[in-house]
Amino acid sequence: MIVDIKKINKVDIPGLLNVLHEIFPRANVQIKNDDLIWICTYGEKIIGFAHFSRTQKGFLLQGIGVVVQYRGKGIGTRILEFALDELSKSDLPIYLKVKSTNEPALSLYLKEGFFQKKMIA
Ligand SMILES: CC(C)(COP(=O)(O)OP(=O)(O)OC[C@H]1O[C@@H](n2cnc3c(N)ncnc32)[C@H](O)[C@@H]1OP(=O)(O)O)[C@@H](O)C(=O)NCCC(=O)NCCS
Repeated sequence: MIVDIKKINKVDIPGLLNVLHEIFPRANVQIKNDDLIWICTYGEKIIGFAHFSRTQKGFLLQGIGVVVQYRGKGIGTRILEFALDELSKSDLPIYLKVKSTNEPALSLYLKEGFFQKKMIA
């Protein structure tokens, strides 16, 4: 499957919002000007994204998602690796929060080198 991964442009924002809504229908996701977002496109269609915010500590992964029919094909891995490669140039910590019941996300993060620091009930 030939997909393209790139940092988001302003023109991609409406498409991203649609995908965000499709993947996280109940979430009220805010996008700030200095957020760092990578998208994966297949043809003209956005099929996945990774969204980071700059914080005092470093970079917080706000969310990563792949449109349901494209999951399990390595797309999430590719987007995350692409983003981590760029973010790691700055040497700042990269961190995230994830529900312990979210197995696909948990195993993706562990596979990409994240480790558990704190467990919140
Ligand atoms: C998490 C998510 C982005 C993974 O995307 P994906 O494209 O399906 O992931 P990949 O195909 O690259 O798989 C990456 C790893 O995730 C794990 N994984 C993927 N699907 C899984 C499943 N159904 N069950 C358990 N682990 C799974 C595996 O460890 C896999 O690595 P492997 O193929 O080397 O074994 C995707 O499941 C998703 O969009 N989920 C809904 C949104 C979400 O919960 N995001 C995370 C919180 S913000």
